[in-house]
Amino acid sequence: MHLFKLPFKKIREKEQLLSAEINVPEHVAIIMDGNGRWAQKRGLPRIAGHREGMDNVKRVVKAANHMGIHILTLYAFSTENWKRPTSEVEYIMKLPIDFLQHYLPELIEENVRIETIGEIERLPKNTRAAILRAKDQTANNTGLILNIAINYGSRGEMLHSIKEIYQEVQEGKYSINDITEETLSKHLYTKNYQDPDLLIRTSGEVRLSNFLLWQSAYSELWFTETLWPDFGPEEFGKAIQDFQQRKRRFGGI
Ligand code: FPP
Repeated sequence: MHLFKLPFKKIREKEQLLSAEINVPEHVAIIMDGNGRWAQKRGLPRIAGHREGMDNVKRVVKAANHMGIHILTLYAFSTENWKRPTSEVEYIMKLPIDFLQHYLPELIEENVRIETIGEIERLPKNTRAAILRAKDQTANNTGLILNIAINYGSRGEMLHSIKEIYQEVQEGKYSINDITEETLSKHLYTKNYQDPDLLIRTSGEVRLSNFLLWQSAYSELWFTETLWPDFGPEEFGKAIQDFQQRKRRFGGI
């Protein structure tokens, strides 16, 4: 098997062929954990860790794009994160605005498309507006899809999907016997994307924390002690190389 080595400048040119040849995951999902501890270790307020974490998003997005990954789903804010102190929540809510102000031109140059999953209706108005603008501006880009999970929770997503299906059954669009796993998948926020091939969590925590529970049924899992702000392109590359050596059987032999 070919294992790629950074940098991957040429990879996108023959994307389909190369992806198949070297087994680059199509969809990578990351739980970006450890910003608070990163800051505390340096005697800084937790928000300094979130700020550094935001800068790292740009580095990892660029690396993913150059590797030929198609979708990168990043867990930026869960439906449970509202329980944090108001000042921290307010700071995190401003990060997408800052991020897009600083990095959108560069991401557009990189042909990146911005998408989101989660209930963005509940976000502060200016955060939502910045996100919607970025989605609009990048809608025709054909490079990496940067899919930001914000105000996202997997159980809530499944519940939402079930309610939609129930409604459609009530409307007579199909009967209960027609409901399959695919029906549920097609009602999730991720309906346009294939399931993640690889799911990474930083900071030493080994759990999924209500992230893509349905979609990760057959994802390869990769955990590292590294805190998110320190999880740079090099370690990301190692995770991808590790993925390339896994034997995926999807329940078969
Ligand atoms: C978890 O670390 C991190 C978060 C809840 C926020 C993540 C947000 C970013 C990395 C910025 C995202 C920005 C954009 C634009 C996508 P933690 O605070 O739980 O860390 P701890 O476990 O060390 O306390």
